[in-house]
Amino acid sequence: MKFFLDTANLDQIKEANDLGILNGVTTNPSLMAKEGIVGRQNVLDHYIKICKIGEDHTDGFDVSAEVISTDFKGMVKEGEELAELHEDIVVKIPMIKDGVKAMKYFTDRGIRTNCTLIFSPGQALLAAKAGAAYVSPFIGRLDDIMIDGIDLIKQIVKIYDNYLFDTEILAASIRNPLHIVKCAEEGVDVVTCPLPSILGLLNHPLTDIGLAKFLEDHKKANGKK
Ligand code: G3P
Repeated sequence: MKFFLDTANLDQIKEANDLGILNGVTTNPSLMAKEGIVGRQNVLDHYIKICKIGEDHTDGFDVSAEVISTDFKGMVKEGEELAELHEDIVVKIPMIKDGVKAMKYFTDRGIRTNCTLIFSPGQALLAAKAGAAYVSPFIGRLDDIMIDGIDLIKQIVKIYDNYLFDTEILAASIRNPLHIVKCAEEGVDVVTCPLPSILGLLNHPLTDIGLAKFLEDHKKANGKK
């Protein structure tokens, strides 16, 4: 199972990368705006900075960079520019009609894509047919409207298993550590998470209590107060 960080914040990406458990990064226009990255050249430069953080990875470090255009020609132009930036770039394309066409175009030319804004199994099926490298179901946003996001994950896992699609399931819109564990139970290929959700996996009160006791017993046994 791969862990991606869902942010454009360089400090957080470095922190997660230093942990040694990071396999990549996903961004979107909202996350870039949140970091104050505006203007085409600044956006492109920022993607290169993110890719450079992962350059020591021998097993790849995928960085999803999203197009802004919503028409086929525009997506192709932008996607080709993004793919030229660095070999780790995966072009992120929204699940719309021209997006499906653009994904097929990129697939035929060896450019990897991540199909974003997936909210139904039918959309995930189309993305796989178009040859997307990754499909991104947004589980948190489904939970927000009282639809269980994990049910969507289960449906996509089943469909992809039925036909042995190569498209990797990249669970997105992760909001907490439990989402990560639930996705792992369903066998997703990747989770993309905010840093607090990943760090939340560390926590258990019995670990804290147990460690305090070990250290206390060690002190006692070694004659320290
Ligand atoms: O990767 C998609 C993600 O950024 C959306 O997350 O929390 O805005 O629904 P959220």
